[in-house]
Amino acid sequence: MSDEKWEPQIVGFACNWCTYAGADLAGTSRLQYPANVSLIRVMCTGRVDVSHILAAFAQGADGVFIGGCHPGDCHYISGNFKTLARVTLTKKVLEQFGIDVERLCLEWISAGEGGKFAEVIDCFTSRLRELGPNSAKPKLGQKT
Ligand code: FES
Repeated sequence: MSDEKWEPQIVGFACNWCTYAGADLAGTSRLQYPANVSLIRVMCTGRVDVSHILAAFAQGADGVFIGGCHPGDCHYISGNFKTLARVTLTKKVLEQFGIDVERLCLEWISAGEGGKFAEVIDCFTSRLRELGPNSAKPKLGQKT
């Protein structure tokens, strides 16, 4: 198989109240962005656990995107601050498995920021194309 045909697969976790609505706005506004991301709607990014992120990488994701409400706007008060702490922790775990921390992207995108959503996904997809396939997949998927 030719490398030219390879496209990164991105698993995205999007907060129902902000980023998921922002993605919806991008769609209804007919903004162009790469179709590489598969979005999973969560009620709050605080619902995204370290194990969810690692499972996404272990099951074949080349990148994981998390999008939530801006600081101070979380509908559950501090969910996004917990997410920020978890992402920092997860990046340390990824390093242990030899996975480039650039493969994990956290952004605050509100319901009115459809343009920002499209830009972030475009930029993240380009970054992953440069990084290439996630070669650490098998390592992370190993049973211990
Ligand atoms: Fe959106 Fe918490 S409700 S990040």
